[in-house]
Amino acid sequence: MAVDADTLIFAPDTLVRFRRGRILIHTTSSTLAAFETANTMLLGWLGQFAAATSLDAALAQLPPADRAAGAQILDYLRRSGALISAAAAGPTPALDEQEIQHRSRNHLRLLARSFYDVACDLHGFGPYAERELAGRSGIGVERRLMALLAGVDGLRQELGALREAYLGQQLARLGVDSGARELKLHLGCGRSYIPGWINVDVYPAPLAMNMLWRTPFAPQSARFVFASHVLEHLFYPRDVSAFLGEVLRVLSPGGVVRVVVPDIERCIEAYTGNDRSFFASRRETWSWWPENATRLEDFLAYAGAGAEPAYLFESHKYGYDLETLTKVLSEAGFVAIERSTHMGSPHEALRVDEFSAVASAKYGERHYSLFVEARKPG
Ligand SMILES: C[S@@+](CC[C@H](N)C(=O)[O-])C[C@H]1O[C@@H](n2cnc3c(N)ncnc32)[C@H](O)[C@@H]1O
Repeated sequence: MAVDADTLIFAPDTLVRFRRGRILIHTTSSTLAAFETANTMLLGWLGQFAAATSLDAALAQLPPADRAAGAQILDYLRRSGALISAAAAGPTPALDEQEIQHRSRNHLRLLARSFYDVACDLHGFGPYAERELAGRSGIGVERRLMALLAGVDGLRQELGALREAYLGQQLARLGVDSGARELKLHLGCGRSYIPGWINVDVYPAPLAMNMLWRTPFAPQSARFVFASHVLEHLFYPRDVSAFLGEVLRVLSPGGVVRVVVPDIERCIEAYTGNDRSFFASRRETWSWWPENATRLEDFLAYAGAGAEPAYLFESHKYGYDLETLTKVLSEAGFVAIERSTHMGSPHEALRVDEFSAVASAKYGERHYSLFVEARKPG
């Protein structure tokens, strides 16, 4: 069929809902009210727009007396964004990718905060909300939450299906094939790329991915892994364990991981010793750090307490001292867990702390960070 401006298809975010004998059709983003009808036969006729369908061909199926009404309905669905031109539904025309990234980020922050807020609301209301909403609209809290979950789950499944090709393209660009060995992986690199290493972080890193995915590297393909100021951004213990398990999987026997994290013990010492210079010097390193924070606010933010859900993975989720870091590394299966010093690795390849934007930060003569190395058995 020729695809012209009058060949229409339902937009991918169109929803059809049923409420007390009425059918509602709308999108997730339209500013117009949902199209509403009690005519259930109409749904069968509209269903043909699940695939690209010509406006004229669809109207021709109706008795002549109903065509004007049919055209009005299609016009409303078109204006509301539920029906779109099939030509426009093809490959996306030039998008302003930066603008979309920016908007997505804001939406994600809102979602993260909103999920938390709605949980607080629902806990506050108890069974009253279910009773009232179910009575008023026929759709209670549970079913609304299931619809939200289905939306998120659907998106995650579609994203999951994109992963392999996305990672494959990037690896091809980096010249890494499935037989690669002795790799050096810089995980959570931020904007600090180490030459000769595979630098991994979220977009736009050279290898852009969520590090909580299974990495696209074969078992035992890496000799060294460097993760500086990353662990404290992952949820403890679940995501940290999964991350370290993945590091263990890709390291070859005898391979070494170097982990750098903020040293919470130093922070506690500074707090109990009322060491104002420690906290003041944080502002030298991080100019955006609030100036009037109390010692406790400083300490807790450093240790990962009180983060807004909307900060997503930018905030600290946890803090580590040597004992706790040793415990998580050991539980993940690492051995020979040793404290190290700034640029003090016994392995030349791992003397890379200076590439990190934060691992070199100091107060007085001391570094903020805790440096630890651990080995995969074998
Ligand atoms: C404090 S920065 C450290 C950057 C760099 N390693 C350094 O030392 O300068 C933490 C980094 O972890 C990354 N990160 C946190 N969670 C992540 C995730 N789930 N997937 C990929 N990167 C993540 C962030 O994007 C950020 O670049």
